[in-house]
Amino acid sequence: MCGIVGYIGPRQAAGLLLEGLRRMEYRGYDSAGIAVVNGHGLEITKAAGKVTMLELELEGKMPTGTLGIGHTRWATHGAPTTPNAHPHTDQSGRIAVIHNGIIENSSAIRKTLERRGHTFKSETDTEVLAHLVGEYYSGDLEEAVAAALREVDGAYGLAIISADEPGVLVAARKGSPLLVGVGENEWFVASDASPLLQYTRSVVYLDDGEMVVLSRDGYRVRNLETTRISKPVNQIEWDLAMVERNGYPHFMLKEICEQPESLHNTLRGHLLEEEGTARVTGLNLSDDQLKQVERIVITACGTSWHSALIGEYMLEEMARIPVEVEYASEFRYRNPVVDHRTLVIGISQSGETADTLAAIREAKRRGARTVGLVNVVGSTIAREVDGGIYLHAGPEVGVASTKAFTSQVAALALVTLRIARLRNLSILQGREFIQGLRLLPAQIARILERSSELEHLAERFLGTATNALYLGRGVNFPVALEGALKLKEISYIHAEGYPAAEMKHGPIALIDENMPVVFIAPKDAVHSKIVSNIEEVKARGGKVIALINEGDTEIERLADATFTIPVTLDLLTPILTSIPLQLLSYYVAVARGCNVDQPRNLAKSVTVE
Ligand code: F6R
Repeated sequence: MCGIVGYIGPRQAAGLLLEGLRRMEYRGYDSAGIAVVNGHGLEITKAAGKVTMLELELEGKMPTGTLGIGHTRWATHGAPTTPNAHPHTDQSGRIAVIHNGIIENSSAIRKTLERRGHTFKSETDTEVLAHLVGEYYSGDLEEAVAAALREVDGAYGLAIISADEPGVLVAARKGSPLLVGVGENEWFVASDASPLLQYTRSVVYLDDGEMVVLSRDGYRVRNLETTRISKPVNQIEWDLAMVERNGYPHFMLKEICEQPESLHNTLRGHLLEEEGTARVTGLNLSDDQLKQVERIVITACGTSWHSALIGEYMLEEMARIPVEVEYASEFRYRNPVVDHRTLVIGISQSGETADTLAAIREAKRRGARTVGLVNVVGSTIAREVDGGIYLHAGPEVGVASTKAFTSQVAALALVTLRIARLRNLSILQGREFIQGLRLLPAQIARILERSSELEHLAERFLGTATNALYLGRGVNFPVALEGALKLKEISYIHAEGYPAAEMKHGPIALIDENMPVVFIAPKDAVHSKIVSNIEEVKARGGKVIALINEGDTEIERLADATFTIPVTLDLLTPILTSIPLQLLSYYVAVARGCNVDQPRNLAKSVTVE
């Protein structure tokens, strides 16, 4: 959700900033811009649309200069136009600001500044902030930024430069992610590590309320008062190759195909075969503490919320512990009942989703023990929870989440196994579950080998569809939700996920010969029930595509088309059934000419409420 990058060092900044914006484009692609300080002062170039539009704008006129900032925008205040693109400048035009977040009292500040004669060129809250910094500026950018930020409410990750101080970049964070890259005689700031990986893997994560001042001699972290803060330098494990497409036409396809490996990496080191349990020391919870947990609340957004629902089925079934799954955005505003006997699990690929972070903070405030299942190492949620499991799925760049989802389900399986073994699961049952988990990477690989079957199904049933229904039961009901979300977010086909039996209570009215209905129907405990639901759809002329286990002749006879998945334990089927649905939506979107990796209106990391 908006990507920001800044650089100071010996290199020419403009090309480096552009490259950084390209890597962060998944955070927002409504407009982009850069500002560079050089002998002429401040040179700013911006363009509406994707980073390629900015590149076109810069063709043949790249500004020189070794200090600069760049921004790729996901619009919050104001339409995605060039005037609303960042960087924004102050009244004098000599201070440039890029910003990720929302300044909540910007209207009031804007009015006050207008009364003092300021004029604004855009509708953005960021321009108001730039003017406020300018208002305080009297030769010391650092102090002007600190003074301005003491007046603003809201969330920000920002970077600021001034034509009058060609050796200084000031950045600050409150609520939106920001890190400092520490290179050899060069320093970076960025929303995430992707723009820096080429130059350094040493980073300093800023916390809320902190500012950093980068100069040609180094960096210094402080708070908004004057207190200097000493911060550890962390090493990032990801490398450049991991954030590139490596020959795949889209990041989404690459990430779908990486799942045998990403799943293996999530499970690696956690499975204790002999004891039939999971080693999850990262939770920072002793056996006694885990036994005392009376209730679990899982909170997340979007795809991560779907994995949470699967976790609910697993935990209740295997550990016999009550679980509730909450949209993070709702949890925090509805006076939730949680206390020190509640374990609150936050799930997030990015570790930066504003609502999930806020929900975790709320749970902590109420005395709950918090645990994070997070992919991005060092992200805010990962740092704020009491314990957790890193997914180790590798960077996920495609806006539609795929490999993170299956890794989240696997991480939930680890938590489930650990808690269940402390409560009522026998060692033999534990071993059987581990055996099931171990087989999954190879089973996913077998599904991926047959992806061309899904390409044909996509063309045959969904190529011209305007609506689709996804139906599943039990632990595969959340998979139906996830399948529908994948389809709508990248191909813009309206799709609904429903519990298959619930269909009779309304959605059945939509079914006619133009409605493709995707059934998730492995041979599990509710198989015979879902067969009846398929009959109901067929009786009304719907086109049925069913995910089934090999040898399921009953559904094969009924459905218009089937795709077979390998057999696994009932509770693990979502990890296999979700893969063909990811591929199905991918091929539909490609066939319809949609921008798979950058679907309209979306951003990868939603850092605003
Ligand atoms: C959908 C998708 C989103 C995210 C949601 C939460 O494909 O990617 O629904 O799952 O924005 O993001 P994280 O997991 O980063 O908290």
